[in-house]
Amino acid sequence: MKFLMWVFKIVFILTLFHLFSSSLSLGQELRSSTSTDCCGGGWEGVECDPATGRWDETHCWYNPIELFKSHKIAATFLDDNSLQGYIPSGLGHLSSLQTLSLGRIICQGQIPSIVASIYMKGVLSPTLGDLHFLETMIISGMKHIAGTIPLSFSNLTRLQQLILDDNSLQGYIPSGLGHLSSLQTLSLGGNHLSGQIPSIIGNFKNLQQLSLAGNLLKGPIPTAFKNLVDLQSLDLSHNLLSGLVPDSLGQLQNLTYLDLSSNQLSGQIPISLCNLLKLSFLSLDHNQMTGRIPSQIGKLKALTSLSLSFNKLTGQIPESIAGLPNLWNLSLSRNDLLDPLPIAFSKGLPSLLSIDLSYNNFNLGTVPEWLRTRELSDVNLAGCKLRGTLPNFTRPDSLSSIDLSDNAFTGGVSNFFARMSSLQKAKISNNQLKSDIAGIKLSDGISSLDLHSNQLFGSLSRILSNKTSKFLEAIDVSNNQLSGNIPEFIDGLNLKVLNLGSNKIAGQIPTSISNLDKLEMLDISRNQITGTIPISLGSLVKLQWLDLSINKISGKIPDSLLGIEALRHANFRANRLCGEIPQGRPYNIFPAAAYAHNLCLCGKPLPTCKGKKQEKLGQ
Ligand SMILES: *[C@@H]1O[C@H](CO)[C@@H](O)[C@H](O)[C@H]1NC(C)=O
Ligand SMILES: *[C@@H]1O[C@H](CO)[C@@H](O)[C@H](O)[C@H]1NC(C)=O
Ligand SMILES: *[C@@H]1O[C@H](CO)[C@@H](O)[C@H](O)[C@H]1NC(C)=O
Ligand SMILES: *[C@@H]1O[C@H](CO)[C@@H](O)[C@H](O)[C@H]1NC(C)=O
Ligand SMILES: *[C@@H]1O[C@H](CO)[C@@H](O)[C@H](O)[C@H]1NC(C)=O
Repeated sequence: MKFLMWVFKIVFILTLFHLFSSSLSLGQELRSSTSTDCCGGGWEGVECDPATGRWDETHCWYNPIELFKSHKIAATFLDDNSLQGYIPSGLGHLSSLQTLSLGRIICQGQIPSIVASIYMKGVLSPTLGDLHFLETMIISGMKHIAGTIPLSFSNLTRLQQLILDDNSLQGYIPSGLGHLSSLQTLSLGGNHLSGQIPSIIGNFKNLQQLSLAGNLLKGPIPTAFKNLVDLQSLDLSHNLLSGLVPDSLGQLQNLTYLDLSSNQLSGQIPISLCNLLKLSFLSLDHNQMTGRIPSQIGKLKALTSLSLSFNKLTGQIPESIAGLPNLWNLSLSRNDLLDPLPIAFSKGLPSLLSIDLSYNNFNLGTVPEWLRTRELSDVNLAGCKLRGTLPNFTRPDSLSSIDLSDNAFTGGVSNFFARMSSLQKAKISNNQLKSDIAGIKLSDGISSLDLHSNQLFGSLSRILSNKTSKFLEAIDVSNNQLSGNIPEFIDGLNLKVLNLGSNKIAGQIPTSISNLDKLEMLDISRNQITGTIPISLGSLVKLQWLDLSINKISGKIPDSLLGIEALRHANFRANRLCGEIPQGRPYNIFPAAAYAHNLCLCGKPLPTCKGKKQEKLGQ
């Protein structure tokens, strides 16, 4: 099986048609130097053998840069020992260039750290505007490329693709770009661009793809967008846009993808959007939309994904949604929607896989039968006023995530997960479940389990044992009635979050806690833990959050904890600790309250220790 171990792409796609003398050989040498060994993929990237994990520096990308140097196109491009470079300003002399692509792709697998830290840097040279024949420009994924989009780009009148995603570009979108009447793709997402979206973008009559997502753009969506008659994909998400969603977007008949999420848009969902018969993806989530979901939405027969979460929508879900034949992802959480759910849901939504109705004004009582009997992968019914015992899903093996938290479920848990063989994420926190936690059987693939704030009892040693799945990354069983000890941890676990706070767990913190070397959050506060803090805790170098407060832990806070450089928060309050607090950051600058109510802790941030005698006491 061949997959990309890593791909680092400083790809130079130089398609030279109208050539000058030296540019020709440049192109050919580039091609031959990158088409051997692990760089077999040629222009499109660099593939390495996962078996050896090796990448051939010589072929993969040092040589192309040497080539640039040898052709004196850019003397500043690279200094010999660093693999960082500037975009050669001399590129502008390659005036016959048609395609320029300087990108960075990272695929599956591990990226060697030396590669991960390589980025090109600098600014986009105004001389790039001299590439009059350029049809495609791709410069993406270079987080150290800053500065503004040069005004000279307005001279690139043959440009069809302008892709400058995921750099650190700033400033306004130059309205001079309006001269680029051949543009089909304009993608400036993932930068720091500010100001308003210039109306002139409405001039791009041939534009098919427009992404300005993930910037700092504010003001309204220009009504001039109605001229973009060929537009297929519009992504303005993750900006600061405000005002109404323009009615005129409903004229963009070819639109298949519309993402306006995570802005500050307000007003009602325009009914005109329901004329976009080719629309397959519609997301308006994380805005301030009000009013009802228009019942005309049932006309969007091509819709596969609809997300209106995190708005202020009111009224009932229109029955017509049930008639959407292709809808597989329906996300309506965090609005003010009301009962009852459409009756037609029980026979409709044939493609549904994922549904999120959480945190509305629903008072569902029980999980509707149509939902229990469907083959679904993601079900989120948190905060839907569900009662009684946990529901019996009749197709449990299809579920990959389930969230029933913040309801009023009672009774046991033991068999609930039993047949959910594909389950990865489960959340049933904040109910009134009473069950012996030792009786809960989980799928081997579970990665996240949140059962906090119930009335679970028993010992952890079944859930956390030498059989604990390597996939388990987060477990929160805080605020229950658990007893017993903290079990020993075997090597090779991947836990990042372990929250056992507010239970009745006794015994010591096992030395084997050091086996949890991926741990980022450890909370065992408010239990009955005794013994000392194991020195081995200091080897959890990824730990950011540590709470041991309100237990019966004695002895000294070991200096080994100074090894945890990532630590942001720690609390040792209300134990029986004594001796000098580790004198180094961050321990000596945490608030004194983090150490209060112990036996005899001293040293910054508390008063200075009185001498060695006291330190001995603490051992
Ligand atoms: C566009 O090109 C012309 C001629 O090469 C030049 O005079 C002009 O300054 C350029 N415009 C910009 C904005 O750089
Ligand atoms: C939409 O796409 C079709 C073909 O895919 C094309 O013929 C048409 O011009 C485009 N624009 C509009 C407004 O329909
Ligand atoms: C469904 O859509 C929501 C909102 O866009 C998204 O967060 C979620 O990941 C999607 N679900 C799946 C299973 O892709
Ligand atoms: C749940 O469903 C299964 C299979 O349909 C059935 O055997 C079982 O008795 C049901 N359990 C409850 C509590 O209804
Ligand atoms: C797991 O622990 C149990 C009891 O603690 C022990 O009998 C068993 O051998 C252990 N299994 C492995 C694989 O270590």
